[in-house]
Amino acid sequence: MELSPLLADANIEIGNIEHLSFASKIIESYKNAKIIVLADENTYRFCWNKLIVAVEFLQTAELIIIPPGEENKTLDTCSNVWEILSNYKVGRHDLIINLGGGVITDTGGFIASVFKRGIHFINIPTTLLGMIDASFGGKTGVNIENYKNQLGVFNNPIATYIDKSFLYTLPTNHIKNGFAEIIKHALINDTILWERIVKIKELSEIFSDDIFKRALKVKIEIVNADPKELGLRKILNFGHTIGHAIEGHFFNFYRLEHGHAVALGMIAESYIATKIDKLSMNEFRQIINFIKKYFLIPSIAKTEITEIVELMKNDKKNYEGKIQCALIDKIGHCMYDQPIDEELITESLIFLFFSKHEV
Ligand SMILES: NC(=O)c1ccc[n+]([C@@H]2O[C@H](COP(=O)([O-])OP(=O)(O)OC[C@H]3O[C@@H](n4cnc5c(N)ncnc54)[C@H](O)[C@@H]3O)[C@@H](O)[C@H]2O)c1
Repeated sequence: MELSPLLADANIEIGNIEHLSFASKIIESYKNAKIIVLADENTYRFCWNKLIVAVEFLQTAELIIIPPGEENKTLDTCSNVWEILSNYKVGRHDLIINLGGGVITDTGGFIASVFKRGIHFINIPTTLLGMIDASFGGKTGVNIENYKNQLGVFNNPIATYIDKSFLYTLPTNHIKNGFAEIIKHALINDTILWERIVKIKELSEIFSDDIFKRALKVKIEIVNADPKELGLRKILNFGHTIGHAIEGHFFNFYRLEHGHAVALGMIAESYIATKIDKLSMNEFRQIINFIKKYFLIPSIAKTEITEIVELMKNDKKNYEGKIQCALIDKIGHCMYDQPIDEELITESLIFLFFSKHEV
């Protein structure tokens, strides 16, 4: 599979960070610039050393460390960092390097895009989800309370450097987060990837080059075709309309991982696709069985379903008051802007949380 031109177009490099153009790029383009590295406490602990071993002069960079986790993907975090940037007298020609998962690259990308109307940033993803999804494609932003990504801008990093060896220290639940997005990429756009992942015997197999590169290729091609999400790119939201609402619902009392919520969202949205005669029962069965092998269905009370549906009413993709989803009509193909009745969403959540999933 030829991926190199696509990667080059998207300014993505994959490999050992020491061998990528990272160091030379900074030396050439940011020789006299202030360099700020944004990390969270975990990426500082697990990834920072590797980075400065690879690129020694980063030892003199200003390091800003924020607490980890989705709960810190907020405007408060941005305000604190903007204040520090102002104190450091960071200007338009300086550089922010985001070292972390999707929370760091989304938040850091937004911080850089808005500060002084935009300064350059580079993403170095350290989670699987960051590597195959969040660290490129131009979406940056933060949450407002439990509403996801309510503030944000489209803006691309100068480059994204992917070094899979950062994943050695990543806990399994976060590997699964990335896996959920790989499953999504297969379901919306790549039957070969689907056939490959259903055969894996162990989760660690998803790091293999063929799976990794196919998953990456799906997102790059879709984003290239529709960078501002005017049409096709909306298929990347498959599983996310219901998934985000589930994630938001759990936010205040129990931390349900993003990828886990998206995996549940993919089951519910596939249920809807089957109910409206788009997706075959046979493929729906394959999807549930596969997702359930890796993701547990959490327990909720029936009354919570209304709360989850309520959260969906604030989804950015809604149109004329209607909740809209991306729905697959077969494995490997997805439609977007599909208006869904509230009753059917409720039914899909009852199926997800309260049935034995016998189809
Ligand atoms: N911009 C986009 O296109 C896009 C796409 C998908 C998801 N996202 C966003 O990404 C976010 C989720 O990203 P995530 O799953 O990477 O979560 P995350 O950034 O919170 O990282 C997960 C956890 O792993 C820790 N961690 C990171 N790298 C590590 C490493 N190498 N070793 C040990 N620990 C490490 C982090 O500190 C954190 O505790 C969500 O906010 C989601 O909305 C954005």
